[in-house]
Amino acid sequence: MKDTLARLSQSFGPSGREEEIRTQLTKELAALDKNLAIRTDALGNLIATKPGDEKRLLLAAHMDEIALLVTHIDDLGFLRFSPVGGHDPRLLLGARVIFANGTMGTIGREELKDKEDLKLDKLFIDIGASSRAEAEENCPIGSMAVFAPHFSTQGSRIMAKALDNRAGCTVLLEVIRNLPPVDYQIDFVFTVQEEVGLRGARTAAYQLQPHLAVAVDVTRTGDTPEAPVMAVELGKGPAIKVKDRSFISHPRVKDLLEETARSQDIPYQLEILERGGTDAGSIHLTREGIPTGVISIPTRYIHSPAEIIDYRDLKNAALLLCSFLQHKDLFSSL
Ligand code: CO
Ligand code: ZN
Repeated sequence: MKDTLARLSQSFGPSGREEEIRTQLTKELAALDKNLAIRTDALGNLIATKPGDEKRLLLAAHMDEIALLVTHIDDLGFLRFSPVGGHDPRLLLGARVIFANGTMGTIGREELKDKEDLKLDKLFIDIGASSRAEAEENCPIGSMAVFAPHFSTQGSRIMAKALDNRAGCTVLLEVIRNLPPVDYQIDFVFTVQEEVGLRGARTAAYQLQPHLAVAVDVTRTGDTPEAPVMAVELGKGPAIKVKDRSFISHPRVKDLLEETARSQDIPYQLEILERGGTDAGSIHLTREGIPTGVISIPTRYIHSPAEIIDYRDLKNAALLLCSFLQHKDLFSSL
């Protein structure tokens, strides 16, 4: 799983421009050789279907990552940008970014009278261009940049960009790799545009009409110095979501996930996320409502250039989801 995560996390895939990460995921699916029907829908969601009987399960992980969109180029070749997804200016300062064509940049700031003035509109991308024309040629208005790729490990810990949510994509691939024989249909969806409002998941859930859905994404932790209080830590197991800003988990789906974890001795934690949301927020409101749950990978420094997860949580998330697929009351108890 580590190699898969290394490839996925370093792929380029800003919200709304997911071509490169989708191509990479399509390759990964082909290599697994599971005879899934694979297609891309109108918005760009990548859907891999395991056929089955009339019951349908949707498993979703967003493949997009937060980005910077070039909005203006000045005479000296500095690029102003608009955030795509949630960006904190304090995390952007000094960060290295990369464009689709490989152009690298670093983020500088205007001289500020007061540190409190550090807002996104005081920042700019410097690609090292010496003129407006040179900058325009490489990074025209409308082009997007993401954090520069890197990947390293320290014991069981993994540090990279875009673990939100290439960690979730890796979990879905691992579930496909170890797919248990089940009768019902499973639609694995790598969604687009989660970071700008859970958009791809909405159209995916509408067209696929699942009877049950589980989203896999990252969540915050409370295990760093003076962190906001949160009962989630790295290495203590995948988190089963109770609630976030856009979603309260279906009680039965949450219980099914907990029952699975307990019966298989898989460590897990319960997650209440005060800020942020995930694809489940739009999936569960689709059509007449869809019972939905979420498995989250505990992650430090979400939306920063270097996020950290624990590899054991990643493996246990895949194990939990695989075991969940075999729960005998999956559809009957909803
Ligand atoms: Co995110
Ligand atoms: Zn996410």
